Amino acid sequence: PTVLLLNGPNLNLLGERDPKQYGSTSLADIEAAVTALGKELGVTVVCAQSNHEGELVEHIHAARDLDGVVINPGAFAHYSIALRDAVDAVDTPCVEVHISNVYAREPFRHTSVTAPVMQGYIAGCGVAGYELGLRAVLRRVEEARQ
Ligand code: DQA
Repeated sequence: PTVLLLNGPNLNLLGERDPKQYGSTSLADIEAAVTALGKELGVTVVCAQSNHEGELVEHIHAARDLDGVVINPGAFAHYSIALRDAVDAVDTPCVEVHISNVYAREPFRHTSVTAPVMQGYIAGCGVAGYELGLRAVLRRVEEARQ
């Protein structure tokens, strides 16, 4: 199987951006760790990041040919109906990840318009959430095969 690890706006700055919320791990390190876990589990992980809503939509469309998506939509989770509709439009199982516990933060982060169309949702587990996301999406892939 092949899984897309997709990160949204400002997540290219991980490591330097607000380390209290997001830790000191860079996106490159996260991508390497998830890719390594994938190798262990027999999964190819492809990685992408974009600061642009439309590009994220196109990545989701392209994931129609893949087995799963682990996505941190960043702030788009809180208001992008376009991203939500893209996830809704594809059959590929998607799991939403937030590094921080968005429910312990500002009220505008408590809403996710994307969560209702996801297979699963992980928040507040730090960067480990991405690895949990990969494991979660793989369970869906296995279930779909049975
Ligand atoms: C985030 C949470 C969002 O509210 C924020 O806009 C981000 C990062 C997280 O991973 O905790 O960019 O998605």
